Amino acid sequence: MKVLQIKSVITEYQFEELSAEERHLVELAIEATKRSYAPYSNFRVGAAVRLANGAEIIGCNQENAAYPSGLCAERTALFAAGTQYPDEPVEMLAIAARGTDGELTDEPTGPCGACRQVIIESETRSGGKIRILLYGRRCVYAIDGIRQLMPLSFSEF
Ligand code: THU
Repeated sequence: MKVLQIKSVITEYQFEELSAEERHLVELAIEATKRSYAPYSNFRVGAAVRLANGAEIIGCNQENAAYPSGLCAERTALFAAGTQYPDEPVEMLAIAARGTDGELTDEPTGPCGACRQVIIESETRSGGKIRILLYGRRCVYAIDGIRQLMPLSFSEF
């Protein structure tokens, strides 16, 4: 018998400690929360993607009365990026959210499992690690590569 311990590396920053480029992408994600359509959960999520060519694409969660028909902010942004720039690598992804009180969350918001699965495939297509920035008012988590958030992931068949 052998116990395998899997370690994730996450760096915690204050917003001001991020690079100008990172702060800008986080600000885009924060702005995107305001476009969210979330009348059912009232949890408004924004995402912003930066591509290798410098293009920035935003997304926000889009809910639906038939709940599973909605989509998370991260996938909305990544699928839009894949549609507009199918061959352009994704370099960075920022995520921010407003809780049911309408305020930006204190703690960083992580992507759901389904979004992590989609981020993995974007990363594989991109050929390099995606830097992921999870915004919270208290701090921002920076993660280099989605595999830090999803070990033992399914990626090939
Ligand atoms: N949501 C996202 O947009 N991203 C995530 O990674 C987690 C959840 C959305 C889905 C739903 O509209 C709302 O947040 C509450 O779950």
